[in-house]
Amino acid sequence: MKKSYFSVIILAAGRGVRMASALPKVLHPVAGSPMVLRVLEQCRKAGAGEIRVVVGFGEALVRQVVEPAGGVCFRQVDQKGTGDAVRAAKPETLEGPVLILNGDHPLIEAEDIKKIVENFKETSEEITVITAKLKKPGSYGRIVRSGGNVRAIVEAKDASADTLKINEVNTGIYMLDAKLLHKLLPLVQNKNAQGEFYLTDIISLGMEHKIKVNGVVLNSRVATGVNSQIELSNATRRVYLRKAKQLLEAGVMIIDPKNTYIEDSVEVGASSVIYPGCFLKGRTKIGQFTVLEPNCFVNHAVIGDSVQVRAGSYLEECEIKEKAVLGPYARIRPETVIGREAHIGNFVELKKVVFGDRAKANHLTYLGDAEVGEGTNIGCGTITCNYAVDRKKYKTVIGKNVFVGSDSQFIAPVTIGDNAVIGSGSTITKDVPANALGVARAKQFVKENYVSVDGVGPSDSKKK
Ligand code: UD1
Ligand code: CA
Repeated sequence: MKKSYFSVIILAAGRGVRMASALPKVLHPVAGSPMVLRVLEQCRKAGAGEIRVVVGFGEALVRQVVEPAGGVCFRQVDQKGTGDAVRAAKPETLEGPVLILNGDHPLIEAEDIKKIVENFKETSEEITVITAKLKKPGSYGRIVRSGGNVRAIVEAKDASADTLKINEVNTGIYMLDAKLLHKLLPLVQNKNAQGEFYLTDIISLGMEHKIKVNGVVLNSRVATGVNSQIELSNATRRVYLRKAKQLLEAGVMIIDPKNTYIEDSVEVGASSVIYPGCFLKGRTKIGQFTVLEPNCFVNHAVIGDSVQVRAGSYLEECEIKEKAVLGPYARIRPETVIGREAHIGNFVELKKVVFGDRAKANHLTYLGDAEVGEGTNIGCGTITCNYAVDRKKYKTVIGKNVFVGSDSQFIAPVTIGDNAVIGSGSTITKDVPANALGVARAKQFVKENYVSVDGVGPSDSKKK
């Protein structure tokens, strides 16, 4: 395998006090994906070699997210500042260019990282620091230039009133050779407002050692750090809007992009329509000409072409084939496959069901651990009783073109043959063969003249 040009250090050990949350800051999700994972994935996409992640607060949790994605974790024992964090990543054991970035900048894209790397390759400067010009520079470190060159980065907390007026800020992204990093880091001291080892000091230290620093201005998304829940919700909104725009450009109709929540991993085919309030998550794939009415929640579902999902439906880990119609208020649970042109109506719940082509269950029904054949009609209020007193699950198999009358229960395990008819209100405990009628309900009892002539009370009691 070709050796990568650069390696990466992601800083992710901080607690993030301003988040006011027990979860480590970098694990807060932006549109369904933890911030640090987003940063890591974009680095990987941009062609990074080894990706080191500095962990500290909530280490075990951060490792659980970062390691499966290929991040190599290094522990920072005490969170003594960004300079100390980079030291914890042992840059002395790296070679060649190193990209350093913060785990709390979730909007960065691979394209930005590629730009930074190309820029570093092309210039003769030894340190690149990525900056951005912001209307409201807020709490970001300020870039102090003289004669156009970057001389220092001053943290907002340490800055004079004049320095605070500078609107060019530090994005916290740097690129330099591992050897140079190793040389400068031990020189960083903690004489500042927060008593921390600031990584930003490598810029002024570099100047003192006649090292050329290149300040490259990039877009504001690169600069967008998340330090509070408000900033998190702003970043989240930007990511959902970015995805909605991509889909709109690809021909998907999204009626109100500001109120539609589609994760980056989701695919939607052209000419499909997504109404407001829909949440589409994870590995969800939606075909063409499919309509999702308002407020549908869809997680890891594969939905075919020309499917109609009516308002308020909830779909998880299931497959819906072409031209099926679901809802309103359908609940499709894991391991369910709905056949072509099948109909699932309101308040119908399916769990682990293979539901045949053109089959119907239009009202108020629970089917679990079941197979329903093609063209079968499941009447209103049908229940498969799959969970027995031994706490095990049993299966109901219903054949093709079966007619199940309303308000029937199937006590699993039980099998119904093709074309069978189940009388309404039956509690089916035994198999019903193909083409048979199965009825299991109490016989109707009729007593004539039960009510007295004046219509009050039973006629018998009056006579006494
Ligand atoms: C830092 C920069 C600031 C820049 C801003 C961009 C410093 C001193 N300041 O400030 O110039 O404008 O980022 O967002 O570098 N971390 C550790 N260990 C620590 C401290 C922090 O791993 O001991 C990690 C945090 O988890 C976070 C990142 O480093 O992911 C940045 O730390 P944070 O405290 O958010 O720095 P800022 O104050 O935002
Ligand atoms: Ca920050």
